[in-house]
Amino acid sequence: METRILGTTEIDIKEAAQILLEGGLVAFPTETVYGLGANAMNDEAVSKVYKAKGRPSDNPMIVHIADSSQLIELTDKVTGDMKKLMDAFWPGPVTMVVPAKPEVPRVTTGGLDTVAVRMPDNEATLALIAKAGIPLAGPSANLSGHPSPTTASHVDDDLHGRIEAIIQGEPCKVGIESTVVDMTSETPMILRPGIVTKEQLSQVLGKEVGIDPAVLQRPDIYNNGGLLETDENFKPKSPGMKYKHYAPKAEMIIFEGEPEKVRLAMAEEKMNRVECGQTVGILLYDNENPEEAAHDFFAQLRAFDKKGVDVILAAALKEDGVGFAVMNRMFKSAGYNIREIE
Ligand code: TXA
Ligand code: MG
Repeated sequence: METRILGTTEIDIKEAAQILLEGGLVAFPTETVYGLGANAMNDEAVSKVYKAKGRPSDNPMIVHIADSSQLIELTDKVTGDMKKLMDAFWPGPVTMVVPAKPEVPRVTTGGLDTVAVRMPDNEATLALIAKAGIPLAGPSANLSGHPSPTTASHVDDDLHGRIEAIIQGEPCKVGIESTVVDMTSETPMILRPGIVTKEQLSQVLGKEVGIDPAVLQRPDIYNNGGLLETDENFKPKSPGMKYKHYAPKAEMIIFEGEPEKVRLAMAEEKMNRVECGQTVGILLYDNENPEEAAHDFFAQLRAFDKKGVDVILAAALKEDGVGFAVMNRMFKSAGYNIREIE
């Protein structure tokens, strides 16, 4: 299949909307990462998304809407808490998991009776959804297991020849995926941390927001199929949490500990590796600016892969606020290969 690169003009958006209505796949820009779009209400189209990505079919899609009136197609319960989050954060990087109407295909929800919904903050994509007049199912537009794409060319690297079109839009401002919040229980629970933090959500809702225990767990290793070892009843609410994710081709080690000591340990490891003839990539971010780390992280992993780096040495960030969301990705990328520096 020929993958077309489209722009964001009215003609391009019309073309992309047409492809979606015919059951095809179009990658689209958002403020977080690029998504791989299909008509969320069309079983066949959504099945193609799983196939194009090589994604396990029990890992559900986020459904993107352009107007809150589209929510009625997906759920019949819009609670006060949901309204508060919509008002505060949409369009923007917050995804809400809500009860799904029977009309929402179970292919889209990965067989669950809930559906994840968000309104992305990107003009071209909002225009696309409005033009097509459908809710847009869209996981991140990478091959399953690869780092999420933050440019159209990352998408092309992974999905060229597997999808109908890519809309080349403005670069992703945020760089990591949206915060996913389960709104189906009295206490909203974060299933995936993002740039919008637990504290921000709590403040808007005027109540405590929890974090799903699976987010905090540090499993020892992944098995060969990319699934986490599950001897401790690892049953995350968000199915995506149990799969290996965001992995660069290179080996990756995270150094945790006091910053000065971490730097020394990384320098020493680098020297040893170079002596063995390996090429080394270094990730060292400013703890005071975790937003910058979020923005850079996936793109940097892909850049290291392109360079053919053998090993990536990364310093852990402080796990609070946005740093917590970045570390969630970093741990997975490294397959929880962590070196504690005393
Ligand atoms: O920023 C984002 O959210 C990007 C852009 C494209 O919008 N999308 C994205 O989609 O990251 P994806 O499919 O890569 O990640 C969706 C996550 C997965 O971890 C999935 O398991 C979870 O959301 N999820 C989706 N529907 C769910 C549901 N009904 N219940 C629990 N978790 C769900
Ligand atoms: Mg993804």
